[in-house]
Amino acid sequence: ADEPLVIFTPSGKRGRVPSGTPVLEAARRLGVDLDSVCGGRGICSRCQIDPGRGAFPKHGVTVTEQALSPFNEVEARYDRIRGLKPGRRLGCQARILSDAVIDVPPESQLHRQVIRKSAAERVMAMDPVVRPFFVEVPEPDLADPTGDFQRLSQALSAQWGIEGLRADLPVLARIQQVLRKAGWKATAVVRQDGQGAPLLIDLLPGLLEGPLFGLAIDLGSTTIAGHLVALDDGRVLASSGLMNPQIRFGEDLMSRVSYAMMNEGGAAEMTDAVRAGLGQLAQTLADEAAVAPARIVDAVIVCNPVMHHLMLGIDPVELGQAPFAPATSDSMTVPAPDIGLGIAAAARAYVLPIIAGHVGADAAAVVLSEQPQNADAPVLIVDVGTNAEIVLGDRSRVLACSSPTGPAFEGAQISAGQRAAPGAIERVRIDPATKEPRIRIIGVDLWSDEPGFAQAAATTGITGICGSGIIEAVAEMRMAGIVDASGLIGAADRTGTARCVPQGRTHAYVLHDATDSGGSLIAVTQGDIRAIQLAKSALHGGARLLMDEFGIDRPDRIVLAGAFGAHISPLHALVLGMIPDCPPDRVTSAGNAAGTGARIALCSRAARAEIEDQVTRITRVETAIAPRFQEHFVAANAIPHATDPFAALAE
Ligand code: FES
Repeated sequence: ADEPLVIFTPSGKRGRVPSGTPVLEAARRLGVDLDSVCGGRGICSRCQIDPGRGAFPKHGVTVTEQALSPFNEVEARYDRIRGLKPGRRLGCQARILSDAVIDVPPESQLHRQVIRKSAAERVMAMDPVVRPFFVEVPEPDLADPTGDFQRLSQALSAQWGIEGLRADLPVLARIQQVLRKAGWKATAVVRQDGQGAPLLIDLLPGLLEGPLFGLAIDLGSTTIAGHLVALDDGRVLASSGLMNPQIRFGEDLMSRVSYAMMNEGGAAEMTDAVRAGLGQLAQTLADEAAVAPARIVDAVIVCNPVMHHLMLGIDPVELGQAPFAPATSDSMTVPAPDIGLGIAAAARAYVLPIIAGHVGADAAAVVLSEQPQNADAPVLIVDVGTNAEIVLGDRSRVLACSSPTGPAFEGAQISAGQRAAPGAIERVRIDPATKEPRIRIIGVDLWSDEPGFAQAAATTGITGICGSGIIEAVAEMRMAGIVDASGLIGAADRTGTARCVPQGRTHAYVLHDATDSGGSLIAVTQGDIRAIQLAKSALHGGARLLMDEFGIDRPDRIVLAGAFGAHISPLHALVLGMIPDCPPDRVTSAGNAAGTGARIALCSRAARAEIEDQVTRITRVETAIAPRFQEHFVAANAIPHATDPFAALAE
């Protein structure tokens, strides 16, 4: 019992180990989270620790200068070549000689905690399914001429406890060359997702420097958005998006399903289009972050059921008719190249489970991100997109539905509509007295009435209006009396502004006119208002349907999510009646919650298990066949809506 006592912080784990035990070994025995890629060979430096010195009254120990063995050759060499921070030691080299207190800094924790910024901020533990393992493989000789893969597999078992490795042909075809070139030292990139035997994703010569990467993709009907994420600490290195190339087959989901029904080979055409889009996005993200595509070793995709089927090459026809049964609702793991992702050849893509025929993996991702099942009072989450995902729940239960809002909120179907990109009008204010507008465009940090705006705007031009811009424009027009409650734009003599110009038998409101100087003319037309009314009625109607079902008149709070959810002002969403009445200070934005959910699933095996379990508990509500949805939809056509107008805005 003369064995030294070792205490690890911050975990507080403690125990006695034989004198001379390496710190890494002690950490393993006591279940302390200390990283290692090289398996204790003193070359990866992931095992760095901070040994404590002096008295630790809290722990009842005093640590002497001799608690750890002095630098050995390996450590001294590492320090000479790479440099260790003052006081730091390599956990695999330093041995415990007497009582010690050892701190594991965050960057040495394999399952390091990352704080996720969102409405429901929470700490997430990194637990990626693909990890690098440095391994030394015995050379074959005439006495033991077994296959290189078998010796690699045995080495991984002996050195890392990885049992039953399997590999795809493209990786198998390369291992002989890699092992020989690298002197039988290599980094095995292994996927352990708990579904079947560990899979060799890649074999890299020598020790892998730097992290591996993954893609988190939110595949929407109108836009495809993705993040490139480092799998060691979850940081986002690049974010990008593109229009879904399927748009040419129909703007919303149902028109794409009908395209598949009406055209021989139509589904396959759309599958090809979306896979090309995914490939392009992966390439853009890799380029932006200057990361080799082969270093991208995992992907997570969230999408609605129709996108899900089309991406996987499944005919979506059944999703277009009651009872809307999907081909499969479980989570899926598919080879990444099969769905167009030009990343590591053997990488897999994980597709989140579907909640129901109309409620997809994107809604599941929103649940993963926003955690309504842990809320004390009912929280309504609306993920605004071409197809809106709506979730309402608290600790007692969680309901979900989807609502076909169409692409108007994303700037499509709007006369001057465009994607959120530099030059797009994203914010609008209209003076209620003069009816004069002020605008802001993406890429310029000034309002249009501030000095320097014209000059700054000259580089991008003012090119159109994006989703958040049109929402603000319509709400502001309503508040300034330019549009009445039925959604009609008034004539100049009624509204008192020459900006209301006739257009056929209706009127349009001119937001920006630079035609004198050869610039653009951007107006909100009667057709634009109608498109927004349809979209917001569908959203509002879906939310009300869930509230009926839940038995409440008002949610405790509302979270706006969606690719541009972060840019929608809660006040304007309320004025427009996009969402049910709620005090404005109870409405928050969560940004792209589906994308965040995809990122969480990418970084954590536990999160994948959690959502797979959660989706079985979510009650889905079908808007397409609910008569009350129609009633709510019609009632919500007025601005803000037919019931209790502006009650929420009595500030
Ligand atoms: Fe790799 Fe210590 S475990 S340097």
